[in-house]
Amino acid sequence: MAKSFHGQLFSNKVAFVAGGTRGINLGIAKAFAENGANVVVIGRNAERAARAQQEISDIGGGQALGLSCDVRDYDAVAAALKTTAEKFGTIDMLVSGAAGNFFAPLVGLSPNGFKTVIDIDLIGTFNVFRASFDYLTKPGASLIAITAGQSEQAMPFQAHAAAAKAGVNMLTKTLAVEWGPAGVRANLIAPGGIEGTEGVKFLSSTPEELEAAVKRVPARRLGQINEIADMAVFLCSDASAYVSGQLIYVDGGTLTGDGSF
Ligand code: HXC
Repeated sequence: MAKSFHGQLFSNKVAFVAGGTRGINLGIAKAFAENGANVVVIGRNAERAARAQQEISDIGGGQALGLSCDVRDYDAVAAALKTTAEKFGTIDMLVSGAAGNFFAPLVGLSPNGFKTVIDIDLIGTFNVFRASFDYLTKPGASLIAITAGQSEQAMPFQAHAAAAKAGVNMLTKTLAVEWGPAGVRANLIAPGGIEGTEGVKFLSSTPEELEAAVKRVPARRLGQINEIADMAVFLCSDASAYVSGQLIYVDGGTLTGDGSF
């Protein structure tokens, strides 16, 4: 599928993508690079971080750096942001996309199981946003958090992720209000079912479940990673200069179902 944005939209800009070592967030990181940005990705797994760095470098946009870092560790996140600012001089765009999830009924969640997802998704986003303050509070800066439909619509077996992402929504909107006067924008993207991602794999574990889920999507297909990346590019570009504090669904128009992806 052709990309809508390509060229030098982000030349001399610097992007920091938490969770950007794989999946949707890696797709976003690559789209930033395709538009000329220098890109730093962080993820828990060092090997994956190194691989992501190589893949982003191979695009031939700006420079790339992959760092091993757990978003649950505030000091590690702060250090990664500092490294980014020291290497590239600034940070202009930030994506908080690191997430943990699994499918479990409420009674199947141990306190630690619930807390783990809250820690990765919600506390992780707080850590990334909070630690970015010194670099991102400037005119033109753009922050994005990746959320999910279950943050607004109850979904069975997703109490932990739904609660975490609902928190991410209000954290991001509050930041948009508080940091807006400094020229910063903050928005949320809620992807629908995106082909090849963990989310689709564990929420549609059989071909029959997948087929039924796709039938609930008015577009009658799964989304593609580059379609989420295009929204992230738009939200970090001047084309969206008056858009802030918004949650934008990129889900093929799934307005009616239970968001089962
Ligand atoms: C019940 C579970 C469980 C399961 C883990 N736990 N999996 N409980 N059902 N299927 C419990 C463990 O028993 C443990 O509790 C606690 O969770 C922590 O587990 P750990 O394995 O020690 O944690 P950790 O190594 O930090 O791994 C975190 C993780 C893991 C979330 C559990 O799956 C992970 O790292 N995932 C990262 C990748 C990922 O999930 N991506 C999906 C993103 S998709 P006890 O009590 O035993 O100590 C996404 C899209 C959402 O977010 C939209 C679509 C729905």
